[in-house]
Amino acid sequence: MIPQETIAKIFDSADIVEVIGDFINLKKSGSNFKGLSPFANEKTPSFMVSPGKRIFKDFSSGKGGNVVSFLMEHEHLSYPEALRWLANKYNIEIEETQETEEQIAAKHQKEGLYLAHQFANEFFKKSLKETNEGKSVGLSYLKKRGYNLKTIDEFEIGYSPDDYNALENEAKNSNYSLEPLKKSGLIKEGEKGTYDFFRGRIIFPIHNLTGRIIGFGGRTLRTDKKVAKYFNSPESEIFNKSNVLYGLFQSKSEIIKSDSCLLVEGYTDVVSLHHNGVKNAVASSGTSLTDGQIRLIKRFTNNVVILYDSDPAGINASFRGVDMLLKAGLSVKVVLFPEDEDPDSYSHKLSNEDFRSYLNDQQIDFISFKANHLLEKTKNDPINISKTINDIITSISIIPDAVSRSVYIKKTAQIFEMDEQLLITEVQKKLRSKREPQSPNSLPYVSPKNLPSKTFQKGVKHDLSNQEQDLIRLMLSYGAHSIKVEVLNENEKSTVEYPLAQFIVEEILSDKLSYKNEKYQLIFNEFLEGLEKGLVLNEQHFVQNPNLTSLVADLTTSQNILSENWKNKHQIHTKIESDRLKQAAEESVFIFKLRVTENLILEKQQALKEIDSNESNESIIKEIKELIKVRNIFANELGIIVTQ
Ligand code: CTP
Ligand code: MN
Repeated sequence: MIPQETIAKIFDSADIVEVIGDFINLKKSGSNFKGLSPFANEKTPSFMVSPGKRIFKDFSSGKGGNVVSFLMEHEHLSYPEALRWLANKYNIEIEETQETEEQIAAKHQKEGLYLAHQFANEFFKKSLKETNEGKSVGLSYLKKRGYNLKTIDEFEIGYSPDDYNALENEAKNSNYSLEPLKKSGLIKEGEKGTYDFFRGRIIFPIHNLTGRIIGFGGRTLRTDKKVAKYFNSPESEIFNKSNVLYGLFQSKSEIIKSDSCLLVEGYTDVVSLHHNGVKNAVASSGTSLTDGQIRLIKRFTNNVVILYDSDPAGINASFRGVDMLLKAGLSVKVVLFPEDEDPDSYSHKLSNEDFRSYLNDQQIDFISFKANHLLEKTKNDPINISKTINDIITSISIIPDAVSRSVYIKKTAQIFEMDEQLLITEVQKKLRSKREPQSPNSLPYVSPKNLPSKTFQKGVKHDLSNQEQDLIRLMLSYGAHSIKVEVLNENEKSTVEYPLAQFIVEEILSDKLSYKNEKYQLIFNEFLEGLEKGLVLNEQHFVQNPNLTSLVADLTTSQNILSENWKNKHQIHTKIESDRLKQAAEESVFIFKLRVTENLILEKQQALKEIDSNESNESIIKEIKELIKVRNIFANELGIIVTQ
């Protein structure tokens, strides 16, 4: 744990221009710096760094944030790793927070486990290459499967002798404690005494991201079906299967370079692909994908290609995992192999070049793949077809990006030869049902800035995201500016002056409103907490929050820094906004409330259609009338002509 004060010190000391300048050629441009985006191929610089705001914004990729998030993006570091990187650069000492004795013991225990795995692996490697048994059984098997020593070394593949106490004896002879080996599950305790867990198996060590060994998979060399083909290390303090992908350590640099990650099933698929020149593959090791594994992939790329052998059961079983990938915003493609081939076997069959072309040519997007696959199964069966379509629609509706969704809708419409509009409507329905408010407090929201609201008159609810964004942007950019507000006190008008942030917070609270967007709500809550302590937070406070930094960079740069043209056009606008701050704040609050009210009215009108008891009808009509009054007050304040 890095103490909070040290984190603050690191942020204070880190010069964002200097740090980013270590990686990118930056040129001064006005009060900012700009350069070529490191996240996209471009000829005109669209990457900018603002030393004043201590943020960067990359207009090509949309990425943005503070100095730490830059290192996380660019160098693929974790948050603490990025902080340590900076601490090192600026000679800031990190005194870890005082650890309790238990924490120290736990750390030693963990270290012991790492060392035990390393010790065992040295033994397995030695057994493979330097013993008669290893050479004649293990090495010859690996050679038969087409691997050379270079590949074997790269993956640190080994062999465990077919003997009940080989590893144990090795430990005893080297005076190595058995305890951590037992804790790792490498030496077991049975009724007749201790014995080695892996015997007569090819050993595939599993590495963590820094290359330390955390577990093993052992493949039997026997052909009889009674023996499990693989034994795997049990979970331990350092080995949590749901957070591990086999081969990621060896593949991560190629995954970054190619911006794509191939997902396969087994150890031998990864090793064979690698051996045959395809070095960006990882394996989920026979289990279904977990969120932890998806997060791991996302650290390196947003593009996943799943390599399937043609076993239909396996394909069907994978759909849930793929939906999780889609939900995480990853683009998912699929390559299917010919019957009786898997990535391992097929990569040996073709030349490296042909294999690579096969992977490229056969790639199709997952949605089309799933649609085709299911259609094949349910042909001429109307009931199942509608189920199938529903299934596809569900997959499409969980994709966060609207543009991708519409591309997939188009493709699906073609595959099923059906009306695209119909699919759009169905997807919208699913999206809406997900967005619908759970509690009366989380009000529905949607957008248009044009007044008066056309969508309201058409009976369509507003997406309030623009209004929410306006309010948050105002608080972030001008929260501490004071504005004068007139109040009525015992029939006497007086003016009080208070910070804009406080004005907005009070307005939102007074009507018990909340933000639909979780991050906005988070920012709002922090503002509120700050105000309760008499503090008005500023943009810098949020820029340091790893979860918010990109959003805040987005909201506060308003892309004005890059082009002089844009600047000339919009600086005026910014100036006006700051001059007429009070008006801007009031307007934003009123428009938000107006839209919320309109949505409520629409909801009630909808309810009216669905209920046919007279009594409740009347009370709903009364409520609607009240709400329309409220709406008209807001509309009046805003100078909107009400046409209803
Ligand atoms: N697996 C396992 N236990 C088993 C069988 C399989 O843990 N009894 C896991 C392993 O991680 C294996 C993956 O599932 O790598 C895929 O299984 P399979 O395709 O049967 O194995 P391969 O890795 O392809 O091994 P080989 O090519 O040697 O048959
Ligand atoms: Mn296989």
